[in-house]
Amino acid sequence: MSIKAQTLIEVSEISKSYGDREAVKNLSFSVAEGTVLGLLGANGAGKTTIVNMLTTLTSIDTGHASICGYDVSSQPYEIRQLIGLAGQFAAIDEKLTARENLKLFGRLNKISGRNLNARIDDLLQRFRMADFADQIAGTCSGGQRRRLDVVSALIAKPATLFLDEPTTGLDPRSRADIWEVIEDLADEGTSVLLTTQYLHEADRLADEIVLIDHGMIVASGTPDELKRELNRDVLEIHLDSDVAFRSAVRLVNDQPDIGTDENAMTIRIPLSNGAVGSLALLRRLDDAGVTIRDFQVRRPTLDDVFLAFTDA
Ligand SMILES: Nc1ncnc2c1ncn2[C@@H]1O[C@H](COP(=O)(O)OP(=O)(O)OP(=O)(O)O)[C@@H](O)[C@H]1O
Ligand SMILES: [Mg+2]
Repeated sequence: MSIKAQTLIEVSEISKSYGDREAVKNLSFSVAEGTVLGLLGANGAGKTTIVNMLTTLTSIDTGHASICGYDVSSQPYEIRQLIGLAGQFAAIDEKLTARENLKLFGRLNKISGRNLNARIDDLLQRFRMADFADQIAGTCSGGQRRRLDVVSALIAKPATLFLDEPTTGLDPRSRADIWEVIEDLADEGTSVLLTTQYLHEADRLADEIVLIDHGMIVASGTPDELKRELNRDVLEIHLDSDVAFRSAVRLVNDQPDIGTDENAMTIRIPLSNGAVGSLALLRRLDDAGVTIRDFQVRRPTLDDVFLAFTDA
């Protein structure tokens, strides 16, 4: 028997325009208790606008959104008790130390005294922040500040957490720390809405993905569903000189949706008839005397899904 998890975030046909620019158009999705929704999209797709609307930072023009049953537009006070937010740009006070920042966020969330100190000590230790806990935030490194910002959002153990590109600029170790925390929070029942530019991160963390382009949903589903939906393999060809790379690009340019990476001298070709199609293309290059360093035919990744569904 499967028990359907409760929906914590419900978004129904919301839209937002800035002047005559429609940043978000008629968007609907939901996030169940204890799940992570990955919101993906190119720069300017509308991710931050969505996060800002759901966290009451900007108004919703039309449509409805609710969190734990409370209406985002008409019950902003209640909503603010239910959410944690780490925005795309840090909200920390540069003149305070990391610990003082956490205290301030705690008090804003009406936690104080021994409870607050214990919570802060726990977070500082869990996020390996002891080294810079008493350093003025303005003198912390970019990655340290980012970590402080994400941790600030966790102080009140919110039911829903909004993280707008939480790991941008972090080193791999710090990124993995944040991933672990997000997974732990989801296991404990927190709903997380996460935007990210790292598709590998979405693949690893997100139960559901919503891919947006120009403010509209262009694809949604689990990472596996999205990859299956593409219904094609990818032939990746690596060349070993600029000349070979350019000749190869000319020779396969008739294929739809090819991707090229000049620096890596790599060509990526989506193929619905993986093995057979690959052989024909490789033979074409070989016949033209182009030397191939190596090649592989692989299943699509989320990168391929992203490229197929967006203008990026
Ligand atoms: N305050 C604003 N005034 C006018 N236009 C805005 C404003 N905020 C966002 N926009 C526009 O709305 C669109 C969506 O922007 P948004 O910041 O939501 O994108 P994003 O997906 O978060 O991009 P990024 O990946 O670069 O953070 C863009 O075209 C942007 O220029
Ligand atoms: Mg953004």
